[in-house]
Order: sequence, then structure tokens, then C-alpha cells
Amino acid sequence: MKVLGIESTCDETAVAIVEDGKTIVAQTIASQIDVHTRYGGVYPELACRRHFDILFPLIEQTLKKANLKKDDIGLIAVAHGPGLIGALLMGLSAAKGLAYAWGCPFVGVNHVEAHLYAAMMDQEVEFPALGVVVSGGHTLLVKIHELGTYEQIGSTVDDAVGEAFDKVAVMLGLPYPGGPEIEKLALMGDPKKYPFKHGVVKGRPWDFSFSGLKTNVLYTLKGQNCDRKAPSVLPDSEKPHIAAGFQEAALGDVVKKTLAAVDAFDCKMIILGGGVTQNNRLKELLKKARVPVIFPPKGLSLDNAAMIAGLGYQLFHRKGQKSDSFDLEPLPRIPLNLIH
Ligand code: KG4
Ligand code: ZN
Repeated sequence: MKVLGIESTCDETAVAIVEDGKTIVAQTIASQIDVHTRYGGVYPELACRRHFDILFPLIEQTLKKANLKKDDIGLIAVAHGPGLIGALLMGLSAAKGLAYAWGCPFVGVNHVEAHLYAAMMDQEVEFPALGVVVSGGHTLLVKIHELGTYEQIGSTVDDAVGEAFDKVAVMLGLPYPGGPEIEKLALMGDPKKYPFKHGVVKGRPWDFSFSGLKTNVLYTLKGQNCDRKAPSVLPDSEKPHIAAGFQEAALGDVVKKTLAAVDAFDCKMIILGGGVTQNNRLKELLKKARVPVIFPPKGLSLDNAAMIAGLGYQLFHRKGQKSDSFDLEPLPRIPLNLIH
């Protein structure tokens, strides 16, 4: 079965065709970095408008790339949450419209669950596994009992880890998205020169907090009580050390909790998902794990529609090949299918 996947939860418009949940036949991704870069983050209305403008041309382009016609598509899968409400509405409306016009079933997919599925597309997995989502919108530790059944272990109480990278990048005068820029700059820095501490959430050992770390970086760079755009009190030559210190604190926290959770929750492997998995320091730190660690394949770390189509296929079969209803709504905050 060939599944057409649609992703429009945030600032990437993406379309993919995936066969039997695993094989990518074609995919196209239109990044909106050019639209949002001057704001140092995603501007929701502009994201929504761009999705509207390019979604249908992208669908046509993907079908053409795959050398397929609408009749070859057996299912449409769309990310219907979590994400920006207007952006979600664009993808979901397009999916419903096509499902109606083509007489084809459609399913709504959880974007965060799809990030975890990305690594499973071309690698063998063993459950229970520890799922670690580290993206621009989410930081999550879950025990995956099987595909579709999750037990939440920890999440962030404020910023997502990728978001913290993006915000610290703004303080350092680096362009959006900040994650890759900080990683590059940190290569030239000494992480021990500014030994920032990671956040601690009182009484909740598995949860994350990045706002204190972010404020610490701000004060170190710009002095107490300054705002993010104020000039730095430190010379530019200190910036690589700041970047390295921040990266070490943020990723060190993720890795420390990940390794401890594997033991505490009896997991047989670690499955990572989300844009921050592109970070090489994260990969290096995870080499200490005593169980296998799998990362998303190249091209499937950041937001993409192949993971949506792949997971959509699995969901459709789990639901007895039933289409979702046209009443399906976009859900900006949609939890995983948790067992408690
Ligand atoms: O998964 P994704 O597309 O976002 C959401 O679904 O929310 O990931 C984007 C995030 C951005 O915050 C970006 O700065 C971060 O991933 N990122 C990185 C790296 N590459 C992307 N963070 C740290 N190091 C990187 N190399
Ligand atoms: Zn994402």
C-alpha cells in the first residue's frame, strides 16, 4: 500500500509517499527558514500562510517525482497534532479534501509519535524501549511497550531542548535555527570554561527544565537584568566557550536522564527522534549506553512527511483499516496514547 503523508505542524511543509510503512518512494520538504529567520523563531501566521501556498503544488510534485497517479494512493496520513493550530488546519484540511475527492481513506497521526517511528523505519527494534524525543517543540522520555503504547517518564516543564538551543543562539547573535549553529561554534570552545548547571525540577527527577540554564547564559553574556538583544559584556572570543558550556549542560542532562531511565524502566534499547538528534555531541555522549541506541535515518530527524506516512500505515492497520472521520480536529496539544 502506498501512503501519501502530509506534515504541516510547524514551519516545514512536507509531503511523502511511503510504501508499506517502511520504503520511501518520494519525498519533498519545503523549509520556511527564509520566512522566520528574521524573527529568531517561528511566526505562526506566516507559517500558516506559506503552508496554504505550497501544500498542493508540493503534493503534485511528489506524485510526479514518484511517477504515480492519485489512484495509486491507498491511504492519506496527516499530522493533526501537536503543533500550531493554523498550520495543523492547513494540512488536515488538505488531507480531508483529497480523501473526499479521491474516495480514499485518511488517518490522523500524532507528530511526536511519528518522530519516534522515524528511527524504526529502517532499523530493527526491541520492546520495551526507551523513546527520547528531542526537538524544537518537545523533550520527552517515554517507555515504549509496543508501537502505539507509551508510558510517559518525563518531559520539560518549560522550553523544549531545541527551543533552548534556538533561544541561546539568538543571545549569541547566531541565525535561526540555532541548534546547528551552536554545535558548530561549540567545536571551537572549551565546555569547562563556563560550567553551566542543568535545570532541576523539584520532586520530579525525570523532568527537564531549560529556562534557568537559558537565563544563566543570558546573565553571563550580558550582565544581570539585561534583555536578550542587549549587547554582550563579553568579547566575541568568549562565545565559543559559552556555546560549548551551554551545549554540554543541556545535552548532558538529556543523556544522564536517558541512561538512568534505561535501567530504572528496564528498557532493551534507546530510540531517539527529533531535530536535536542531528547533534554529534549528543551521539558521542550516548556511546556510554549499555543497550543499543538508534537514531532516525538521514533526512528523517527534522520534521518530514515520511515518518507521518509510515506511522499512518501502521495505525490504519491497527484500526482494522478504518478511515478517520471527517470530524477529526487539529489538536495543538495532543498526548501520546499513554497507558496511564
Ligand atoms: O524536530 P524538529 O524539526 O522540531 C520540531 O518538531 O519541533 O527540530 C528542530 C529543532 C530546532 O530547535 C533546531 O535548532 C534543532 O532541532 N536542531 C539542533 C541541531 N540540528 C537541529 N539542535 C542541536 N544541534 C543540532 N545539530
Ligand atoms: Zn517535529
